[in-house]
Amino acid sequence: MRDSLAYSLDAAYYTDPAVFDREVASLLSRTWQFAGHASSVPKPGDYFTFEIAGQNLFCIRGRDHAVRCFYNVCQHRAHELLEGDGNTRVVVCPYHAWTYELSGEFRAGPNTRSVRGFDGSKICLEEVRCEDFNGFLFANLDKNASQMDEWYPGVRDEIREYVPDVDDLAPLEWIEIPERCNWKVSVENYSECYHCPLNHKTFSQGVVKPETYDIQPLQKGRVLRHTTECQSLEAMTYDIDMSVPHAGEYRSWFLWPATSFQCYPGNVLNTYHWRAEKVDRCTVWRGWFTGNGEESAAIRDLAIQDIRTTVAEDVKLVESVQRGLGSKGYRPGPLVIDPECGVNSEHSIRALHQWVREAMRCDNITP
Ligand code: FES
Ligand SMILES: [Fe+2]
Repeated sequence: MRDSLAYSLDAAYYTDPAVFDREVASLLSRTWQFAGHASSVPKPGDYFTFEIAGQNLFCIRGRDHAVRCFYNVCQHRAHELLEGDGNTRVVVCPYHAWTYELSGEFRAGPNTRSVRGFDGSKICLEEVRCEDFNGFLFANLDKNASQMDEWYPGVRDEIREYVPDVDDLAPLEWIEIPERCNWKVSVENYSECYHCPLNHKTFSQGVVKPETYDIQPLQKGRVLRHTTECQSLEAMTYDIDMSVPHAGEYRSWFLWPATSFQCYPGNVLNTYHWRAEKVDRCTVWRGWFTGNGEESAAIRDLAIQDIRTTVAEDVKLVESVQRGLGSKGYRPGPLVIDPECGVNSEHSIRALHQWVREAMRCDNITP
């Protein structure tokens, strides 16, 4: 019987620090991860710092208006360059005041001219691949990574179709949710709705119709697309402007391995991104967006409702699963793969497991 079924990954994938280290090197350092939103760096010299795969990085807008991403480390003796976010004319290292242009080139350092053979033109901050995806900045530590459009074909345009004002959006609310679980436990939980009817009453009754929920991997690339019909508009927990295209629909695009764009009915864009911290710790960020980040009581209410209901419900589930994965009584169980797919099927989990296994055994990771 075992051969015909798809089984969950071994518990070691979620509990063994050595597996986590391999994953950081083979998977998290070689895939596109959310960095921040372009609206937070509108002017030359605007920057923000963040972390991917344990690496401290920063994005900064240059005088040419391009946003670049660099490892946050001085090329002299390794002090970190920037903290938090802000604006700067040049990047100045706080240790010995070496300075760098916004484009990463070395500019000057106290007394470096007295050093025979010192060639500043050979010194440059180490750049990281960075892409703007509908205003969302992503970084990839793999210099040879394929572009995001190859990893997520068609998604850029599809989001644009569902969120016509995506270029004007800015974050209204960022909510940080620490979870005591492996990042994959949280991503898997996000990627199936088999648990929704039992665990998410508000989401199931106030946003979507769980019986129509489906999650499908796109044929190409590494995307799980969620589609569902919505509850009748009267049952919605917020008001919807029906004049915009697709206003009555719900859709979400999970971009492997750790970001999701969700479009709630009414073209309400919100995002998830996951940061893996340790084998049994991750942080989930929920982002809520409005035109130019304008105040909206409805969106704030929705964010609060979400954190008090769906998110809180999920935190309990994933933390329990993480404890269970440490149990001596656990053997990986069969996934429920319904050939018809639908809400009570875990075919999306099978796809995620496949992508994990691929990344962990391949040197050559391509979408
Ligand atoms: S470490 Fe940066 S100037 Fe010395
Ligand atoms: Fe959930």
